[in-house]
Amino acid sequence: MTSARSFWIHAAMLLMKPVLQSICNETFKTAFPSPEARNERMDSITHYEALAKGLYGIAPWLELQEDPEAVEMAQLARRAIDLATDPKSSQFMTLTAVGGASRQPLVTSAFFAYAMLRAPSELWAKLDSRVKANVIFSFNKTRPITPSQNNWVLFASMIEVFFLINGVQHNEDRLLHGLQLHREWYLGDGWWGDGPEYVHNYYNSYVTQPMMYDILDMLHKSKPGLGLKEMFPHRDMQAIIELNTLINKAIPRSAAHLETLVAPDGSFPAVGRSITCRAGALHILSLAVLKHILPKHLPVGQARTALTRTINRTMNHRAYDKNGWLRIGVIGSQPKLAQSYVCQGSVYVVSAVFLPLGLPSTDPFWTQPELPTTWERVWELKGEIIAEHSGVIK
Ligand SMILES: *[C@@H]1O[C@H](CO)[C@@H](O)[C@H](O)[C@H]1NC(C)=O
Ligand SMILES: *[C@@H]1O[C@H](CO)[C@@H](O)[C@H](O)[C@H]1NC(C)=O
Ligand SMILES: *[C@@H]1O[C@H](CO)[C@@H](O)[C@H](O)[C@H]1NC(C)=O
Repeated sequence: MTSARSFWIHAAMLLMKPVLQSICNETFKTAFPSPEARNERMDSITHYEALAKGLYGIAPWLELQEDPEAVEMAQLARRAIDLATDPKSSQFMTLTAVGGASRQPLVTSAFFAYAMLRAPSELWAKLDSRVKANVIFSFNKTRPITPSQNNWVLFASMIEVFFLINGVQHNEDRLLHGLQLHREWYLGDGWWGDGPEYVHNYYNSYVTQPMMYDILDMLHKSKPGLGLKEMFPHRDMQAIIELNTLINKAIPRSAAHLETLVAPDGSFPAVGRSITCRAGALHILSLAVLKHILPKHLPVGQARTALTRTINRTMNHRAYDKNGWLRIGVIGSQPKLAQSYVCQGSVYVVSAVFLPLGLPSTDPFWTQPELPTTWERVWELKGEIIAEHSGVIK
């Protein structure tokens, strides 16, 4: 095993083992969050947030089952999913949101569904039918929640595509509406609004582009050989067909742009809301690696250098409090960087950076030599810099 891969595995374990273990030994709901990280408005959902968001990035690694750590973690995750969704368990968390967080289960459940879709065997097929029924029950309860008119519409789509893939009655309007809106909200050159408006933050990477890409990818996989038009013969699919073309061009481009932001010390511009998602800001880069769709001018050895550095910079020991929970901050404890909706559970969305762990250790991502990043090529004259050869994405 390459040393980079063992470093990544260690970092992923540091993040999620304490969460999964403490759910399994039934101490999580009393031990989490740490008192200094509490956000009362989000207290009722913070546990579910940590579980769902923590799993959605490591799911491909659990699915691969190549490393003994992943075997152990997948077992813990299945037990945790059972306890989290069983109304009779001390760790029941999926339907407990109240007050200021009462619409949040739509968000959290979408991340949970995304995790299961990314690990269909380990985090879904292997669950008992009793547990599956509890999961479906919880997801079904999010259907009356009207999403905010921004990236939230994709959360409704994600839950419906989960139902579609797993043979549960799905709501076609709710499935397709979020995609249709995102055709309207396309602003140009590979960038979407968060709702109709331009936003200057990492939400295109945290949520918008990866969820669109995977929802469309899963629709295609659900009916192999069929186009979107044939899948939904009674609907006007033109907008969604256009969206599919746009997102497939945008992901490689956005991945390459994110790589250019990473400095040699693993820092990157700390701009925009939800920056306490730390290296999770690079979700699209990690996704493009996992799907083998990096653009030609970005070799995988270079992408690995950039991602490894951001993990090292934002997720070292300083990132964790004395209980082993991820602190609210970008590198350490920086709670004033958090918006009112951020809780200790929500920062586990950083797990998105770990998607490449779903590639086996023989994949070029792990075996290619370390290459200098774009930042080093440009600013330190290390290695050639190759221009990108793509026109405006439209
Ligand atoms: C439960 O698991 C957590 C996380 O690994 C650990 O810190 C704690 O000591 C365990 N508690 C019990 C009672 O086993
Ligand atoms: C979802 O909830 C509705 C309303 O309670 C119910 O009619 C429907 O059967 C449920 N669907 C599933 C899949 O549980
Ligand atoms: C992580 O950063 C430390 C401190 O800068 C450095 O010594 C170490 O080599 C880095 N590890 C990796 C895997 O890049």
